Amino acid sequence: MARHLITSAIPYINGIKHLGNLVGSQLPADLFARYQRARGNEVLFLCATDEHGTPAELAAAKAGKPVAEYCAEMHEVQSKIAEGFRLSFDHFGRSSSPQNHKLTQHFAGVLAERGLIREVSETQMYSPTDGRYLPDRYIEGTCPNCGFEDARGDQCDNCTKQLDPVELINPRSVISGATDLEMRETKHLYLCQSQMKDQLESWIDTREGWPVLTTSIAKKWLNDGDGLQDRGITRDLDWGIPVKKGEEDWPGMEGKVFYVWFDAPIEYIACAQEWVDAGKGDDWTRWWRTDKGAEDVTYTQFMGKDNVPFHTLSFPATILGSGEPWKLVDYIKSFNYLNYDGGQFSTSRGRGVFMDQALEILPADYWRWWLLSHAPESSDAEFTWENFQSSVNKDLADVLGNFASRVTKFCRSKFGEVVPEDGRTGEREAQLVADLTAKVREYEEHMAHAEVRKSATALRAAWVLGNEYLQDAAPWSTFKTDPETAAAQIRLALNVIRLYAVISQPFIPDASAQLLQALKTDDDSWPDDVPAALTSLPAGHAFTVPDVTFRKITDDEREDWQARFAGKRD
Ligand code: 2FM
Ligand code: ZN
Repeated sequence: MARHLITSAIPYINGIKHLGNLVGSQLPADLFARYQRARGNEVLFLCATDEHGTPAELAAAKAGKPVAEYCAEMHEVQSKIAEGFRLSFDHFGRSSSPQNHKLTQHFAGVLAERGLIREVSETQMYSPTDGRYLPDRYIEGTCPNCGFEDARGDQCDNCTKQLDPVELINPRSVISGATDLEMRETKHLYLCQSQMKDQLESWIDTREGWPVLTTSIAKKWLNDGDGLQDRGITRDLDWGIPVKKGEEDWPGMEGKVFYVWFDAPIEYIACAQEWVDAGKGDDWTRWWRTDKGAEDVTYTQFMGKDNVPFHTLSFPATILGSGEPWKLVDYIKSFNYLNYDGGQFSTSRGRGVFMDQALEILPADYWRWWLLSHAPESSDAEFTWENFQSSVNKDLADVLGNFASRVTKFCRSKFGEVVPEDGRTGEREAQLVADLTAKVREYEEHMAHAEVRKSATALRAAWVLGNEYLQDAAPWSTFKTDPETAAAQIRLALNVIRLYAVISQPFIPDASAQLLQALKTDDDSWPDDVPAALTSLPAGHAFTVPDVTFRKITDDEREDWQARFAGKRD
């Protein structure tokens, strides 16, 4: 039995994520976790909310709540929605957990001891009225380039020019509107990634079969300009993990916290500790410490392409730099972006479908199927309502759902609600068994490599084989002259439904469970031997006709939804 540690990039706490976020990390990670479990492997699948940084502070301020309270509430909200999408995390943690505080401070202490952290003096905007330093997004003013009056400290939304807060004309605090801002000297910690360039590069060079998207982004940053740059890992904020060296105070760093991107990936480890502390597991070290058995673990990370530099360089720099025996990632699966109906998803304009809204209009499986079968792997992908409607109606309703319904209904009307006994199967059936065997093997191959779209294509092809067989064998005609052969055909077809339920489970878990329930079986063992699996339901086994597994999306619904999610006009 293999052991798989699987993590999904941890979503920011500030609001409900859209379907593009979902398909870029959590959903494919869930597909992979479910598949590995179905194959009998041991899995630890972790995700969490990413709770620090200015976006969390700003969102809390907007909601008029203390940031800790806001994060606790939003964690619950995100957790419920994840359940709604059937994301099968072993634990959904929080980067603000005490475990992550301690571990992040531990890493900083060890890195400092090993000479990999240096102190740098910088000047930054300070607001005496607010009694704090203001990071980029907390400052607005007039754009020096186009005169737009509400340009942010990091970028002008009107002309897109990247800005430094000192360039703004008439800068003001976003918190209080105060204009008496001044530049002050402040000290920050930098992680000396540049010292680790060679070590990181040779580690990346030894990674086999990584997606091109992953390695090309890593290489670009390794060799950009003067090479890998040191990174600031502290911020002048209230909310976050206080800067400490292990358990000791860090002179000169009072009142500062670690930068969100320093502590977020450390949460992957802390989350395993939270899992144990929540009583769900008893040993996290065998997943994370190579001196405690984790050298046998295969660790796969899932993320959108914007996260790749942090996972190929910054987090490995933390791990390798510590000199401690932590598990490093084996495979990084990264995704391009999903666009929405001719543009981008936009949180501020309410454009596109957000996770809570999706579940309000259709069950999780409909979304899971479309998103996974259109995952933005080799390039960006686009959600359109036409495509969504046609995929759901064809793949799920016409092919899979219709097969299950025709076979069970025909059996009920001619032989009753039991697997029929009579008759023998012939060549056509042998061919179906052989074709399904080949398709299942192909599907396994793609799933093992987390090739999401190819897996979906193989699965759909397996569903199509059953339909083609049914069309060709036409048991409803056979029945008129040779009821015994029709019985044998239906016996096989009922077993094919069970096979579909088992292999489709990683994609559409609810429909799979529904089909197994209708077939009154709890045999969900993986078809290592497909011909044997196709005899699992014996003659005389009772079943019921399933309720409609998938319904069709009507043109009216499609039009309504298209209008409803188009967002506010600019
Ligand atoms: O891009 C994001 O949504 C980040 N919150 C991902 C963090 S992943 C990790 F490093 F923890
Ligand atoms: Zn501008």
